[in-house]
Formats: sequence, structure tokens, C-alpha cells
Amino acid sequence: MNRRTRTAMSFLVLLAALATAHEARIAPEYAPALERAAARMNASAQDRLAPVYPAMADWVVERYGLAEMAGIGIDLGGGPGDLIVELATRTPALYWINADINTHNFPYLYRKAESSKIAHRIGAVFADAHALPFKENYADIVVSRGTFQFWQEKPTAFGEIYRILKPGAVALIGRGYTENLEPAVAQAIRDKQGDGGPKYEIEETAAELRAIMKKLGIEPYRILVPEHERQPGVKYGIWLEIRKPHKPAYAKESKRTD
Ligand SMILES: C[S@@+](CC[C@H](N)C(=O)[O-])C[C@H]1O[C@@H](n2cnc3c(N)ncnc32)[C@H](O)[C@@H]1O
Repeated sequence: MNRRTRTAMSFLVLLAALATAHEARIAPEYAPALERAAARMNASAQDRLAPVYPAMADWVVERYGLAEMAGIGIDLGGGPGDLIVELATRTPALYWINADINTHNFPYLYRKAESSKIAHRIGAVFADAHALPFKENYADIVVSRGTFQFWQEKPTAFGEIYRILKPGAVALIGRGYTENLEPAVAQAIRDKQGDGGPKYEIEETAAELRAIMKKLGIEPYRILVPEHERQPGVKYGIWLEIRKPHKPAYAKESKRTD
């Protein structure tokens, strides 16, 4: 075996090892860590973060007119389901899917959905943000709270979200709280140590999100940095709002003249 063949073989072995390592992240031996992560998130969601979800659901339903909307909503990285249950109780004609990489979250979600009597409108699916198991133009709304900071390849994941949005649909992805959360409550949550996950600077994150939108050619989008008028110093987090445009009207007309 000459040197070039040996180098090529080592490269192939390395690639195989990397592929195996990636698979191992979801293999059974990784499961206990995921189980603990789901239990921890559920405990926080039911305790210090509890006021965040009803407030966010009120805000999202009002802003995007979801109370009367029929269709499919996806909560990407919905975790133990506190937001999706609040959303489903306010949106009687929407079906909601919790698309999360950690399936240990799902029993928590179902228990909450059962007790809120909306389990028949909630689904849960093992999903990686980087390769979403939905066809394109599928979702009427995508929400995602407190998870994008964990995505390894954010442009890939944001591209996936855009792909599955129906034309005219909206996605809201971010971390923190919505502006309708009382500032004293928001501050109390921050005082007990924020949001979980990697620490972040608002401006840096905004620049990162803008760069991703530019790279993907996604427009229109908005970056929302909520501030409460009565208490501007409280860190509410950051949200990216993406609207997938309807197809331009001329697309239909040019088809007719063909
Ligand atoms: C901090 S928890 C937030 C849970 C929930 N969104 C909330 O606000 O309560 C982050 C969630 O993102 C999920 N997650 C992390 N990486 C993911 C990925 N690549 N694809 C899908 N879900 C992911 C985790 O399993 C976890 O449920």
C-alpha cells in the first residue's frame, strides 16, 4: 500500500468514526443524559419559568391572529410542552406538534395536554432542527423558544424552518420572554438565573441572526428585542420573526398564458 492510498484510507476511517459519533448522540447510551435534561427542564418550566408560557401564548395568539386560525402549528424544541399546551388551549382549530430531539420530553407534554383536555390536538415527533421531518410548505406557524442557542449549524436549521413554512406563514424563534410579561416577574426569573443554556449578548445574537438571514436570502424578517416601557432595564431576550412571502401574483398569471 503506497503512502497516498494509506492517507486516503485513514481519511475514510476518520469519516466513518465521525459518522458513528454523530449516530451515538442519539443511541441508547446517550439516553440517560437526555432523560435527566428533560426532567430538569420540566422542573424549571413548572417552577421559575411558569409565568413565561401563558404570557407568551397570549402574545403570540394575539399578534398572529391564531384564535380563529385552522391548520398546523409546530413548536420546535418544545421540550416538556408548557408553551404548546398554553397555545393549544387558546387555538381551538389548530393542531400542534412538538418537534424535539429529546423524546424524554414527550411524557411530560402528554400529561399536561391530558389534564388541559387538548391531547387530541397535540402531537410529538422526534425531530432534529437540522433535518426536519416535515414536507415543505407544511406549517401555518412555527414557534421556538429557548432552543436555537443549542443548534450546531444554525443556518441549516433556519433554512429548514423556512422550508416547512407555508407561504404567508410566520415563524417566531428566540429566547427569553415576550413584552407582555410583567417586568417584576421577568426580573425575578432573571434573578433566579435566566433562561438556561449558553449565556448571550443581545447585540451579538442580533448580528448573528441578521448574518444568517442574509446568507439564506430570507426576507422579510424582524428582530424583536422586547423592552417593557415601565422598566426598560430588564432583559427580555431576543426573537426573530420570519414571514414567508406568498408567491408573487405574476407567477399564477404567467402559468395561465403558457
Ligand atoms: C431549554 S429547552 C426549552 C424547551 C421549551 N422550548 C421551553 O421553552 O420550555 C431546549 C429544548 O430544545 C431541544 N433541542 C435542542 N437541540 C435540538 C435540535 N437540534 N432539534 C430539536 N430540538 C432540540 C431540547 O431537547 C430541549 O427540549
